[in-house]
Amino acid sequence: MAKINQSLGEFIIENQSEFKYSSGELSRLINSIRLAAKVVNHKVNKAGLVDILGTAGDTNIQGEDQQKLDVFANEVFINTLTNREIVCGIASEEEDDFITITGRNEKNDNKYVVLIDPLDGSSNIDVNVSVGTIFSVFRRVTPSGTPVTIDDFLQPGINQVAAGYIVYGTSTMIVYTTGHGVNGFTLNPAIGTYYLSHPNMKFPEDGNIYSVNEGNYVHFPQGVKDYIKYCQKEEEDRPYTSRYIGSLVSDFHRNMIKGGIYIYPNTSKDPNGKLRLLYECNPMAMLAEQAGGKASDGFNRIMEIQPTQLHQRVPFFCGSINMVEKAEEFMKNSK
Ligand code: AHG
Ligand code: MN
Ligand code: MN
Repeated sequence: MAKINQSLGEFIIENQSEFKYSSGELSRLINSIRLAAKVVNHKVNKAGLVDILGTAGDTNIQGEDQQKLDVFANEVFINTLTNREIVCGIASEEEDDFITITGRNEKNDNKYVVLIDPLDGSSNIDVNVSVGTIFSVFRRVTPSGTPVTIDDFLQPGINQVAAGYIVYGTSTMIVYTTGHGVNGFTLNPAIGTYYLSHPNMKFPEDGNIYSVNEGNYVHFPQGVKDYIKYCQKEEEDRPYTSRYIGSLVSDFHRNMIKGGIYIYPNTSKDPNGKLRLLYECNPMAMLAEQAGGKASDGFNRIMEIQPTQLHQRVPFFCGSINMVEKAEEFMKNSK
């Protein structure tokens, strides 16, 4: 008979004591995310059957078209976290400002804030290609019982207590870390339970996949152009193979399993690149480092950047350690 792995629920209970300030709050938070992800998964799977494809008719603060599923996923995650009163604040790609959560008695003793990209790669929805959700968790820095402030959200990534993503792919997985390695759980949709399928995930130190939107090549900095030429050069272990889904979660997930590098550099059009530091790059950076990989802006460690704005963008180089270091070398040499 096939082995039945540990469920995510069992895993959370068993590992709760590893959490720095263990009181069950972070476990409840992860539990809520796991629940919201099931609801979003259910909807994503029905794309094409129910009226959820296409744009919602609005743009977010970053001027991007909101897809119907962007809006839906945003509501599901915010409602799930708000109703359970387990966080004191939420910031989302789809919300202009952070959300302050006051408890039923107008007082909020919860310790954590969550930053979230509810639906990543949303332009892929209409064509039945994998999308994801990315989340980042911090302990608040302002006093408990008071409303959260922007300072609770503008913390460097090294302060993250947990980070993870959900990939709604050929199967749905939740992959997360609380600072003790990275574990991946696959949803069995028939019974609605996630099982530990990928314990202790590790980025191979080297890889042969590079993921970058090469259509923007002419706008790339010289260091990235040089690195791409290096990837394409004929050598013993090269040329590398090029894979780009256009959904950070899926590209990252594949690279972590197979070995590879993901690059979204600054361009002559977008001097800070496209990806958002707080709810895309920081959580992916924590996962990468926890899995033995690396994440940088081409020069500096992502998780040491002091954020100044909620929706700030940053160039992103992330993946197998030797590949990221090689790309950094090209960036440095071209300066
Ligand atoms: P989002 O759907 O949350 O706005 O994120 C899309 C991001 C990321 O997932 C992806 O890697 C990148 O945008 C793709 O951008 P390009 O289409 O410019 O390559
Ligand atoms: Mn995104
Ligand atoms: Mn998004």
